Amino acid sequence: MTYLGALQRSETALFSDATPDTEPAIGRRSLQAPGSIRFFDYRPTPADVRAEVLEGLRRPAKRLSPKLFYDQRGSQLFDAITELPEYYPTRTEIGILREYGSEMADLLGRDNVLIELGSGSSLKIQTLLAALQPSVYMPVDISKEHLLESAHALAERFPSLSIRAACADYSAPFRLPLEPDWSDLAAFFPGSSIGNFDPDDARLLLGRVADLLGTGGRLLVGVDLPKDPAILNAAYDDAQGVTAAFNLNLLTRINRELDADFDPAAFCHRAFFNTELSRVEMHLVSLVDQQVEVAGESFGFRVGETIHTENSYKYGIDTFHRLAADAGFVAEKVWTDRQGLFSVQCLRVVADAAARRPRA
Ligand code: AVJ
Repeated sequence: MTYLGALQRSETALFSDATPDTEPAIGRRSLQAPGSIRFFDYRPTPADVRAEVLEGLRRPAKRLSPKLFYDQRGSQLFDAITELPEYYPTRTEIGILREYGSEMADLLGRDNVLIELGSGSSLKIQTLLAALQPSVYMPVDISKEHLLESAHALAERFPSLSIRAACADYSAPFRLPLEPDWSDLAAFFPGSSIGNFDPDDARLLLGRVADLLGTGGRLLVGVDLPKDPAILNAAYDDAQGVTAAFNLNLLTRINRELDADFDPAAFCHRAFFNTELSRVEMHLVSLVDQQVEVAGESFGFRVGETIHTENSYKYGIDTFHRLAADAGFVAEKVWTDRQGLFSVQCLRVVADAAARRPRA
């Protein structure tokens, strides 16, 4: 096993030197494992969660990273969100993938190594696999159990697919289990997860993906579009309260993992579209004045004070193309649904990292 490919391709993939834990098959279920799955655990979270949470809560405007949503329960709640009547992105994107999958494959190429960032339940890729026929599918996700389960479910449905699952945090420079002789890489980054990053961080992330793919490499990315705020507000504050439970689960997770004493009932979910910044914001609002202990440190909350837990940027097509251009990509093709709610875009790397101007 070698995972130095990413380093050879990319000078920015500097990351801790830790060798990933590998599980060639998954414990006791290995006998049932069909197809070929290899699992690489870069152990993205345990050491960092505590420092990140404390840093976020010490700020005058408290915040927590949305990647913390995705513990096992959070990943399940997110899956439930994707089925809500108000949450249009998932079904709209899948509709676009179904309708234009073969066009996408024509551009992306077949028989390549297909890397999916934030693969979650690996649902979307299933609509593309028949068209794309990658030689290797590499799901990358921060949620280990969810990644393992999804990889197994996928292997059962596609027994001849070669799967290399990597548990890693793509919001920081990351490594992947690439072989040095793999030259034909493509990336898939669906769901508008790019919208979780502030524009500067989105540029950095796209730049790292460009470095990974190399000149000529292609990225298929889902980008949610600006629209009527009423649609957005409903999508992020659904009638059944699933998004509220997803947001509040962050506190339960921190209680469990960091020895904290948040009372989830003393906070409520708030989501709204910030028109000026073209982003949906999610917050947890303190319902009372209170003190909370987290990992031995005490944090005060005034009534009405919030923890900012997520941004979900909505990019117009031209705005997104300027951002992608800063990262070394040119847009080759944009597909949207008929209502113009969501887009899937094929971007091609036009300049190597060395050829790009350093960004401020
Ligand atoms: C997974 C980041 C794409 O921003 O729409 C869904 C997460 N948050 N409902 C999004 C989310 C609340 C989702 N992304």
